[in-house]
Order: sequence, then structure tokens, then C-alpha cells
Amino acid sequence: MTLGPALEVFKNHTVLLTGSTGALGACLLYKLAVQLPTKKIYVLIRSTPDVALQKWRDLMPDQMESIILSQKLHYIRGDISQPSFGLDNLSMEKLCRDVTLIVNAAADISFASNILEAVRANCLPALELARLASEFSSLKLFVQISTAYVNSFLPDGEVEEKIYEVSDNDPEDVLSSILDSGNSSDTARFFSSYSHAKYLMERLLLERYPTLPLMLLRPTCFGPALRDPYRLYGPDSSLPLNEFGKAFIAMRDPAQIFHATEGSQSGTNVLDEIPVDFIANACLLHAANETYGIVHVGCELYVSRTFDDFIDLYRLVVPPEKQASGVGRYPFLPNGVVLEHCYDHPGSDQCPENELSQILSDGSTSQTAAFAWPCAQAKHLAERLINIRHPDLPVMILRPSFLGPAIQHPYPLYDVNGTSPLSVLGEIYLLDDGGNRFHSLETLAKNGTLNNSSGSSATASVDTQPSSYNYRENRL
Ligand SMILES: NC(=O)c1ccc[n+]([C@@H]2O[C@H](COP(=O)([O-])OP(=O)(O)OC[C@H]3O[C@@H](n4cnc5c(N)ncnc54)[C@H](OP(=O)(O)O)[C@@H]3O)[C@@H](O)[C@H]2O)c1
Repeated sequence: MTLGPALEVFKNHTVLLTGSTGALGACLLYKLAVQLPTKKIYVLIRSTPDVALQKWRDLMPDQMESIILSQKLHYIRGDISQPSFGLDNLSMEKLCRDVTLIVNAAADISFASNILEAVRANCLPALELARLASEFSSLKLFVQISTAYVNSFLPDGEVEEKIYEVSDNDPEDVLSSILDSGNSSDTARFFSSYSHAKYLMERLLLERYPTLPLMLLRPTCFGPALRDPYRLYGPDSSLPLNEFGKAFIAMRDPAQIFHATEGSQSGTNVLDEIPVDFIANACLLHAANETYGIVHVGCELYVSRTFDDFIDLYRLVVPPEKQASGVGRYPFLPNGVVLEHCYDHPGSDQCPENELSQILSDGSTSQTAAFAWPCAQAKHLAERLINIRHPDLPVMILRPSFLGPAIQHPYPLYDVNGTSPLSVLGEIYLLDDGGNRFHSLETLAKNGTLNNSSGSSATASVDTQPSSYNYRENRL
């Protein structure tokens, strides 16, 4: 891989990474260890190395070996909820001496915590790390992962990369009040205690450590990765819209009530979701450039979906024949190489013209069951009839596999009504309540439509287009 000159600086970086067993942290770890020439990576883990290794293996099984082989990892046992993170003297000495870049991605992202728990998990640890980092002799940059929702108290409109004051209360007084009484009058202005805790963290970091080389990264919602460490990487528990989709379909009551934002009749607010690897890229590119201050990372420029859009998407049940358009032409063939050739059904003694007549009169033929979808039989029949009826026509028959959302044109992630087959399968999977709908995916796999080689749906390989995108624009 060719690195831009900016990223060569990682040759000189010794990184302290927290939260490396989480969604963003593991993606950053992969990039720092495998894609970048990072000198050394101290990974702060609260468990044993064996437990951390198992978490990485679960998150990114095929990338684990290359991470370990990079020989850049050095484990530091520590718990961010403890004073000085519970670090022993030797570890502290190493960090003070070596670390040039800190990326603090550890957090508790639960929205269910009360404000005291949220502050303990998402505000105090960052302040403690900043206190420790003030002693790091080689430090070039401290990257603190925050959230775009620190400003959830603002009305709709443009939000700048700056601090907005939620009230006249002094943040030190607010923190004391929360630690003493477990509450603050400001909390109700945020969408969750979590975002209030992050807001306080930002304000106190900037006020207490004005000379610290600090970058506050404010991502919107994490979405599945576009490329790294692999396509669609990301644990559901850290992808809020996946979790929301699950909660939405788990509601049995047909009357599902959601509260619109102030001034709106429905969910017209944008739920911005950005692939987690884009966030990692933004983080590392800014780190390479030693950006100080506040940085927003969102995806609205690419695809903008409102709450209403998501609800429509979750409710959408696309008829199977619509999902199947253009794919599954030869599900009756065994797994293996499929030539650019028109195959007959096994045992078929019916000529295509007779097959067409029978379908037109009876609505199906004995062969219909051999196909995953009626649409696939229709496409198969069309190919054969074109060849038979018009042998001299200069015709090209294009057989795409599954169409995926666009990479670039007419705009990134273009996907008409969310009907790319894997989007639809994903939606069906999300909509599954343990009942029948998920079985349709298994059935597809058993039929070989997903090119399944072992009979187990988990090993099905699914081809989508376009496959040759070089990801240059978002590649590190
Ligand atoms: N997910 C989102 O949509 C989203 C959106 C905006 C901002 N963010 C922010 O982005 C950052 C990363 O989020 P994420 O979704 O990747 O989080 P995540 O998947 O929940 O991972 C959290 C990480 O923090 C570690 N951790 C938690 N408590 C710890 C403790 N007491 N001591 C040491 N390590 C501890 C966890 O380690 P264990 O494996 O030991 O539990 C894990 O590695 C967070 O600051 C979060 O607030 C997230």
C-alpha cells in the first residue's frame, strides 16, 4: 500500500490506545498495526491479554494474525474507572517516556445510565487521562473521542466545531453537584445522560488543560464498516441504528409510538450514521496532521436519512420476486464455476417455447420449483428464447450478481428505495423476530443461490457489484 506523506509520521509515533476491544478501538488497532508504519502501540486493557485476544478474534478473526505478526502491540493492564487507571509504576514510566499520541476510545456507550454513572464512565476517565498525559514528555497529541450529540440541546440547524453553553452553570459546579447529589438541572436538556457526561468532559478538559495538545473528535452514529478491517465489520451493540432496528421489530404492539422532535409532526430529524472505518480514518488523518480542537465526523454529505426514512425502511417488506431481480439464474446447478453459457434444467425435456406457453396458460411449470424465485425462471426463459428466436441478433446478455449500493455515482451509497438484494436481506434479517422470515435466507443458501459450499448459511459467499472499486478516496 502506498502511504501519503502525511501518514509516514506514524513511523515516529508510539501510541497509547484505550478501548481497543471496542468497535472503533479495534478498527483503529487494525489500522495502526497493519496499515500504518506505527512504531509501537500500547493497548490499555482492563482484562488479561488472553481475554483481549479473544475479543479481537471474535471481532476480526481474519485480521488477528496480521495484527499479532506486526509485533507492535504492548499490553498495559489498566481500568479507566480507577485513579491513575490503576497503572503500576513501571507502566507509568514507560508511557511517560515513550507515548507521542494518545487515542482515548474507551467508554461506556449505554444510554440507560443515570448521570452519575455516565459521568463516572465518560467524563472522569478522560479528565484523569489528561492529568496523566500532562506528564508525558514526548506527547504530540491527545485524541479524545467524544460524540456529535454533545450538542443535542441545540435547535435544528448548523452546528459548529465549537463549545456551546447549555446553561449559565459553571461546569465545575455541575460536576460537583452530580458527584454529590447524583443529578444536575442541565441533564434534562440532553437526549441522554451519556451525552451530558460527554459535554461536561469536553468543557472540563478544555478548561482544566488549556495547554494540552488536544483534539476532540465528535462522530455521529457508528455504522458498519465500508472496508476495514472488513466490509460490514462492527458489533451490533456499538452500532446504534442496528440496535434501534432490533428494538423496533421487537415491539409486538401494533401501535408503535415515537415522539417527534420539537416543532415536527413526524421524524423529520436526520439520523446520521457513518461507517466506523471512516471515523477511524478521520481520526488517524487528523492525528497525522496534529489537528487541535474540535472535529466533527458525520456522513450527511453522503447519505442523509431521517428517522421517518428509517421507520419506512424497517417496515418495508419487499416481495421476494422483487428482491430476486437479475440474480439466481442457475440455482439448480451445483456449486462451482458457472460458465457464460445457457444451461438447461436437469432432466428438462420441455422446449422453451412450450415452457412459455405452459406458464402463460397455467401460471407455472414443473420447473418453477427448481428456481429460487419465479423471476429467475423468467430471466432464464428469456435468455433461451432470445437465442432460439433471434439467433442472428447481435445481442449481449449481461448477468450481474447482486447489485450493491453505489460507490460513487449518482452519489455514494445510491440504492433505489433500499432494494439492493443484500440491503433487503439485511432488512429482512433485522425484521426477523425469530419466526419465519429469517428462514427465507437459509432457504436461499440451501438452494445454492448464495453460492453456499457447505450447506451452512454462515459460509455462504455473496457477490455484490461493483467489486473493483479501489476505495482510493477513503483509503489510508
Ligand atoms: N458507537 C457509537 O455510535 C458512537 C457514536 C459517537 C461516539 N462514540 C464514542 O466512540 C468511542 C468508542 O465507542 P465504541 O462504540 O467503539 O465503544 P464500545 O464498542 O462499547 O467499546 C468500549 C471500549 O471501552 C473499553 N472500556 C470500557 N470500560 C472500561 C474500563 N473501565 N477500563 C478499560 N477499558 C474500558 C471496553 O473494554 P472491554 O472490552 O474491557 O469492555 C471497550 O474496549 C466512545 O468514546 C464512544 O462514546 C460512539
